[in-house]
This record gives sequence, C-alpha cells and structure tokens, in this order.
Amino acid sequence: MIAKMKTFPTLFSPLKLGPLTLKNRIFSAPMSAPGLTAEGYFTRESILFYEQLAKGGAGAVCLGESLVHSATGNNHGRVFPLDDPGCLPGLIKCTDAVHRYQAKASIELIHPGRRSDPIYNAHGKVYGPSGGRCHYGDGDHEVTELTEEMIDVIVNAFGDAAEIAQIGGCDFVTVHAGHGWLLGQFLAPNNNWRTDRFGGSLENRARIFLMVAENIRKKCGPHFPIDFRISGDDFTEGGATLEDAIGLSKLLEDKIDMLHVSATSFHDKRAGIRMFPSMFNPRGVNAYLAEEIKKHVDIPVVTVGGFNDPAHMEDLLEADKADAIALGRALLVDPLLPEKARTGQEDDIIYCLRCNNCMSVDFVPYVKYPLGVSHCPVNPWHGLIEEKFCHQIPYGDQKVLIVGGGPAGMEAALGAASCGHQVILCEKTDSLGGALRQAWHPEFKKDIKRFVEVLESRMKASPNIEIRLNTHVTPELVQTVGPDALIVALGAKPIDLEVPGIEDPRVINCMEIHQRKEYMGDRVVIIGGGMLGLEEGINLAKYHDKEVTILEMQNRLASDAPYLHYIAMLNEVEQLDNLQVMLERKCTAITEDGVVGSDKNGGEEIFPADTIIVAVGMESRREESETFRNLAPEVIMVGDCVQPGQMIPAVLNGYFAGYNLQRT
Ligand SMILES: Cc1cc2nc3c(=O)[nH]c(=O)nc-3n(C[C@H](O)[C@H](O)[C@H](O)COP(=O)(O)O)c2cc1C
Ligand code: SF4
Repeated sequence: MIAKMKTFPTLFSPLKLGPLTLKNRIFSAPMSAPGLTAEGYFTRESILFYEQLAKGGAGAVCLGESLVHSATGNNHGRVFPLDDPGCLPGLIKCTDAVHRYQAKASIELIHPGRRSDPIYNAHGKVYGPSGGRCHYGDGDHEVTELTEEMIDVIVNAFGDAAEIAQIGGCDFVTVHAGHGWLLGQFLAPNNNWRTDRFGGSLENRARIFLMVAENIRKKCGPHFPIDFRISGDDFTEGGATLEDAIGLSKLLEDKIDMLHVSATSFHDKRAGIRMFPSMFNPRGVNAYLAEEIKKHVDIPVVTVGGFNDPAHMEDLLEADKADAIALGRALLVDPLLPEKARTGQEDDIIYCLRCNNCMSVDFVPYVKYPLGVSHCPVNPWHGLIEEKFCHQIPYGDQKVLIVGGGPAGMEAALGAASCGHQVILCEKTDSLGGALRQAWHPEFKKDIKRFVEVLESRMKASPNIEIRLNTHVTPELVQTVGPDALIVALGAKPIDLEVPGIEDPRVINCMEIHQRKEYMGDRVVIIGGGMLGLEEGINLAKYHDKEVTILEMQNRLASDAPYLHYIAMLNEVEQLDNLQVMLERKCTAITEDGVVGSDKNGGEEIFPADTIIVAVGMESRREESETFRNLAPEVIMVGDCVQPGQMIPAVLNGYFAGYNLQRT
C-alpha cells in the first residue's frame, strides 16, 4: 500500500522527548476538561474531550491544569485534583483513551499561589512568595508569605502529583510555571520581594523551579520526561522579562526535558489578550519568545498562541524557531486539524476566529458566574462531545428546501446532507455567506471568509446538495420543488434610525460598509458602540487611518461582546489616538455640520463627519419569513430571522435544524 502523502515534512517528523518519541510536532495545548465532577474528577465527557484530540492526530495531548496542593492552592474550585488518589480511575481511563491513537499524554501541574481563590483554600488562606494584597479579577485578598517550610511542602506536592500522574498513565508532566501562577510569581519581581534565598537575584527567584524539577525527577525517575510551561515575558510592569525567561531556561535546562513557552501573567487584567491571543494579534504572536529562548538551550522548545495554519507552522519549525507547536482553540474548532494537514486535506480546516467566546464564559474570577458550557461560532459540535462520539448519525431521506445562503442556511444544508437528506439551497444574491460577507471585511476578521469558503466547498463536494444562486424563493417555487421540509434562513436587516437628516448621502448602514469602502471619508462617525460598531471603529482607525468617533447611548461599549474580546477591544481603543468614544450620547439629528449627539442632560454637541455609519442593531426579516409558514409539511425558521445579528445561534441552530430533521 502506498504511504499517505506528507505535506508538511517538519511538522510531521517525530520529536524526541527524553526517552519518548512523539509521532509529530503538534501538541494539544493544556486545556482544562469540560464536565468535571464536584471533586474535580474526570467524567465520560472529560475523557471523550481528550480522546477526540488524540483521535484528531495531535502527537501529545495535555490533560490541562491539575492541582498539586488543594489546601493551599486552588484557583477555580472545580479543578482536577492530583493530590487526591481518587482521581486515578478517571485519569487511567483518560490516558488509555489518548494512547489508543498513538498520542502521548501529559498533565499540567499547577499551584496558583497568590492567585488562589480564598473561597476554595483551606481556612480561606492564600499564600504567595510575598505577602500583602493581591488583586485578582475585580476583587483582592490578603496573601500570607510562604515560609521556607511551606515552600518545601509545596515542592514535595509537585513531586507527589507527578508520581500520581505517572501511575495514572501520563507519559510526561507539564509543570505550569508561567501565566503568573505560583512559580511564575517567584520569578516576577512585582510578585516576589523576598530578601531570603528565594528573592532578589535570578538564581534565587528561580530556585523553586529547580527544586520542583529535582523533586519530580527523584520521585518519577530518569525516564519520565519533565516539561515546564513558562511565560517568555510577563508583559507587566516590574514582572519577569524575556531576559529572566532566558536565564531561567538556562538554569533549568539540565534538570528538565522540554520548555513550553507561552506569555503574560494574570498580574495584569489584560493578560488574556496575549495568553489566548486576540484577533488583533498576528498569528503566532508569541513565537519570537520561544525562538529567543531556543537560541540558549539544547532541549526542545514548544511555542503556543494563535496558530491555525499548517503551512505557517511548517515554516516556523523548518526555520528552527521552535521544535513543536501547541494548539488550543484551533483544535476546539477542528480537532481533526493535524490529521487533515497530514493527509493533504488542509483546505478543509476551519480556522479559529480568536473571538474568545469559548474562554470568556468561564474566565473566573473576571466573570461573575462561570457557565461551564461554551459555544463556538464556527463549530456547531463544540461542547457536544458525548453526542458527537456516541450517537450514530441519523439516516434521512427527505427533500429539503433551504431559503437563504447565509451561515444558518449553509449550516442547515450541511447538517441535513450529512444525514442523507436531499437539499436544495436557494440564495437570492450571486454568492453565499449572507451577513458574514460584511462581518469578514475588517482586517482582523478575515478568518470568517475562510469559514464561509470551507462551508461552500463542503457544500459543493456533497452529492446531496444543490446550490441555486440568484434564486428568489416564491410560493410557486416551493410548490414546484415540493419539499418535505422547508428551512427558512432569510437573515436580518439593519434597524433604521429615525432622526432628522437620516437621508443624508453621507449615511451608510452597517451592512453596506464592505461595499462602500472607497466612498469612506476621512472623518467617520459611527452611531452605535455595540460590538459591530466598535469593531468597525477599530478597523477604520487602525487599518484605514480614519478619524473615528463612536457615539454610544449606554454607559458601556460593546455589552454584547464576550468578556475577553471586550478587553481586547478596549485595549485597541486605548492605543488609537484617532478613535474617540463618546458614551451616553444619543444621536438626535444629522445636519450639514455633522452628527448631533445629546448627552443625558440634554446638552448637544456636533461631531463633524464625512461619512456616518449607522450601527444601532439588526432586526429580523420575521414577517417575510412567516409567509413561508404553511408551505411545506415541516417549516423551520433559523438564524438571523429568529435571533438577529448573532453568529453563534445562526450556525448552531442552522446546523441542527438540518441534522435533526424528522426521518420518513
Ligand atoms: C478551553 C481552554 C482551556 C484552557 N485551559 C488551560 C489550562 O488548563 N492550563 C493552561 O496553562 N492553559 C490553558 N489554556 C490555554 C491554552 O493552553 C493556550 O495556551 C491558549 O489557548 C493559547 O493557544 P491557542 O491560541 O492555540 O488557543 C486553555 C485554553 C482553552 C481554549
Ligand atoms: S469560540 Fe472563538 S476563540 Fe473559541 S475556538 Fe471557537 S472560534 Fe476560536
């Protein structure tokens, strides 16, 4: 039999890790499991989550953070407890599952130190390298300085946890020594002002790292690889720098087997922007940190953060800038990414949009109530791992007519076709994508274009889907087709703003910006500072040099944005001198001089404008949709015509409307 083509030779070359050989250089980054029990143990859902990552082809799968000493270091309440042997049955089942796909399993050992949550620590006491108050999330708490005896206890706990991990079938461990958790705190002068042998010089600040590595080695033996995840730079004032990270790496090198270089520290509220790189960052934004560190050590160095594209990863490895690449969100979108890249199907990979919907819902303590369930706008199966793995694909043979070729309609077509239904999708314009054609026009949202392209090519490749462009669906057409099911995905339209002067030729609505770019004047006023208006403002100010003013009625911008994306957008706003935001301003008129904005006291100000963008929201085409209500035995409305302006329900409800159609 002819061997499968290897398109990315370096990415798919084996990697030596101590005595282990990993089958390729794609790692599944540490990702905490969904579905943990109250004790933090793995459930079937947690195990399937990691199994799908192994099945997708990653060379190594990290099982996410696990506590080494719950009594003094618990950050979220529900974390896998490696200091409790009760965790072993789930751990063994999980590593077995990973091994069934020839992947190696590791688990991440964490002590959160001063960023523990006092609610979960014994007696509510939180410990860190130094004492004082520690801000974390919106609150802060008192921290007690660790004594040398307690440092020994915690160092021992790392070793014990590694031993449990080894017994539980892990092939190696990843010590979490970055992101501003305990070990990272020791390295960071803004978290460690001790004057004993654990503070001051680099050697002193790095001492606990070496003690942890030695303790693990002593307990797990020379043939059990040790990986350290560090931050290549804390990016905080007074925090650990790249220079510190290089010095630390050189000190650690002889005691460990691999370095995994991430970035930033929770010391800064904006850490997430580089830790889970936002869409405003280039892909692989932290790779240069790994590259610098790699110049100083002889052990493998892993990079992480914002990777999607196998060709980009191949180039980076080929240029010897890192030895392996860890993927987090890219694998949530498409767990099969490694296998697709290996087998020449990379064109079918959907890229992560870096919208951080998945991370934001559980981003404690910054969000008040962790939801434990997240959704992804480009993967309808995200969070439904048990359903995906365990259910047989239902077989269907209905004739399905879909009205509208936006995301909901396209997903509905793919969902229905995957079960065997025969689909005709009609789109009144000459192209697919609907509202997403506007959504992808900002520079930082180009991955949405790829999403639409992949869906389109999957539709074209399906023998069960017929696409009819430039086709307006009428009752007569429905009658001629005679569908068993009619899925109506008509989309939404921008809400009209009713103010004097709205008919001014300088006014454009938020859905036509991509068609009107060349007419955009130098001074742009955006009416509406929701996520769409704010993203557009950032796009015009940052990439098109416009002078932008956003008028928002509420006292907060983008209240519809996921938390981490919101923080990333505010960070952009702060850096853009040519973007001004006016909160609690209502547009009351448009005059020759510009947009009239009134404040809550009725005071008026005129904002001069060459172009005025109205972004005050979307309304569904509900009435038009209702005209289809009785035209087929089953009629389902999905997408913007039900919940306007939201990609997640459009994609999810669209897909499952098709997938769950009744069988005849
Ligand atoms: C759902 C999810 C859970 C994560 N859990 C952890 C974790 O337990 N420990 C950790 O160090 N990083 C965690 N991360 C961060 C990832 O390991 C990774 O560093 C980050 O997502 C950036 O990589 P990416 O751009 O490929 O997603 C998590 C990320 C995601 C998306
Ligand atoms: S929710 Fe957004 S950031 Fe998370 S995996 Fe999906 S596309 Fe990526």
